[in-house]
Amino acid sequence: MTDHAASALLDIARRIATTVGETALEERRRGIAVEATKSSPVDVVTAVDRETEARIRAMLLDARPDDGIFGEEDETHVGTSGLNWVVDPVDGTVNLLYDIPAWAVSIAVVDGPPDPLHWHALAGVVVNPVTGEVFEAARGGGARLGARELRVNDDVELPKALIGTGFGYAAERRRTQAEVLLQVLPRVRDIRRIGSAALDLSAIAAGRLDGFYERGLNPWDHAAGALIVREAGGRVGGAGGAPESADLLVAGGPSVYDELLALVVEAGAAAG
Ligand code: IPD
Ligand code: CA
Ligand code: CA
Repeated sequence: MTDHAASALLDIARRIATTVGETALEERRRGIAVEATKSSPVDVVTAVDRETEARIRAMLLDARPDDGIFGEEDETHVGTSGLNWVVDPVDGTVNLLYDIPAWAVSIAVVDGPPDPLHWHALAGVVVNPVTGEVFEAARGGGARLGARELRVNDDVELPKALIGTGFGYAAERRRTQAEVLLQVLPRVRDIRRIGSAALDLSAIAAGRLDGFYERGLNPWDHAAGALIVREAGGRVGGAGGAPESADLLVAGGPSVYDELLALVVEAGAAAG
């Protein structure tokens, strides 16, 4: 896959994410309600989540009929090309519900299966329809916020690092995550829980956060954001040198990454 091909895929991802993002925002302005719950009573899905994913799928099938699609709200579509689109139609659904302006459309395309342990991410875009911000990266082509080239912060020590994190929807997982936080919070500048992993990762690329960690993320939460961090000069991974996965994702600039990873693993972020 050449850089040129990755940037052509990024063009498709950007066009689709910005188009469906505008429609999602219009729908949000007309009102919103919970349609169903998924893994727990606080894991909600709205019509905007479902309709946005349906629009993304239709546009992808039109533009890239041979590729697979792996999205949060519908069945996996198996393709024949070896490329897979990894889609979170709304990352930050609780923010969408409460009209907090931090939710995003996240679309990535990967070479290989829709599994972060085995894929090679080629392009990714994270669009915040409320702010109009478009974070994007193509493999080998750097990361951008609109026209601005992004670089992670790289002169930060962990005690002065602003760290993002997130919590799952299951009560028992949250209890463990709160215990981990007890050990992390006194060792860093402060914690942010923005409510969208895709925007957390994009924020690292833009220098708005120094690091991030979360256990239990799904592939669609981080596929685009992790590429954006890497292309902005940051690092992303899991425990013990493994790639990022549901077991653990840690991200940050090179100056905090190793220390943050060691801290959260010691605190138990990769267990339970
Ligand atoms: C969630 C968000 C949140 C993270 C959760 C994710 P959703 O995605 O990314 O920040 O903490 O783990 O599930 O449900 O809003 O698409
Ligand atoms: Ca998500
Ligand atoms: Ca979602």
